[in-house]
Amino acid sequence: MKNLREMQEDDIDKVVAIIDSHDEDDAEEAEAGYRQIGGTYDNYVYEINGEALGVTGFSIPPGCEQTYWLSWTYIDEKHTNKGHGRKMLSEIIEHIKVAGGRKLFVKVSDYVDPEDGAIYAAALHLYKSLGFKVEITHKNFYDKGEAQIILGMRLKDKEDLMIEDKICNIQFDGVFEIAETDNAYSFSWHDQGEYPLEAEDVKVGIDAVKADGARAVFLSFPSHISNIEEPLLQAGFSSAGTLKDYYQDGLDEKHYSLYL
Ligand SMILES: CC(C)(COP(=O)(O)OP(=O)(O)OC[C@H]1O[C@@H](n2cnc3c(N)ncnc32)[C@H](O)[C@@H]1OP(=O)(O)O)[C@@H](O)C(=O)NCCC(=O)NCCS
Repeated sequence: MKNLREMQEDDIDKVVAIIDSHDEDDAEEAEAGYRQIGGTYDNYVYEINGEALGVTGFSIPPGCEQTYWLSWTYIDEKHTNKGHGRKMLSEIIEHIKVAGGRKLFVKVSDYVDPEDGAIYAAALHLYKSLGFKVEITHKNFYDKGEAQIILGMRLKDKEDLMIEDKICNIQFDGVFEIAETDNAYSFSWHDQGEYPLEAEDVKVGIDAVKADGARAVFLSFPSHISNIEEPLLQAGFSSAGTLKDYYQDGLDEKHYSLYL
């Protein structure tokens, strides 16, 4: 990597200032993550002539084969629109490819700030021009009127793998507010339940988040679990799209949403 170097703990203040130059809430959220043990790991500072101008990085979701997510990606507002973002993103994408990355995802909001306008529009433009394609748009995700756009990019040719469907005893075991959202919830789950999921079980979860003041619920499951969609739809969820080849080639992640 030419202009990227691994982020260290003593970079946190300047990196947070870079993020804060665009958005105070993102800066706070990012700082909380960086300050956790190992929180700067897999993050990179973009430097030109010794000056830190940007930050990017990635995370690797568990249970997936060579799947990556881009993490906080910012260029200091004073230095935007000079080609740094494109250079920084090209370098991190190349790094992930060399590390064996198969599929790369990124999430972006469509927030329109009353004063600064569509603050993520440049990012969306850049991602698309670098080869990402929109895979899912969750309307009213972060807040009412603020969508989450999930883009994906293949880094390797697709392998032709046959994934067999399976029946699972999915059981919900908790509800939680999704990070960075205002009252959007999800359910945690495991697949060792005593019996297959029924619409009534889903409704118990819906009632629990309603009691917490939830505005919407977003769920996702591996696409080969063949007995999950019916109870979700019966309980009022709608299909919200698919992240292609998310877990491995041929095994997608199906998303569902319910607006309360
Ligand atoms: C996204 C970001 C990293 C880009 O950095 P940058 O240094 O400005 O990037 P570049 O100068 O290489 O490229 C900017 C591109 O966006 C385009 N652009 C600028 N403002 C735009 C807008 N309002 N709408 C659409 N495109 C826009 C530029 O024309 C340029 O495209 P081009 O190379 O095809 O001409 C930077 O704008 C940023 O930090 N934004 C806020 C944070 C963010 O959105 N992060 C990603 C989501 S978490």
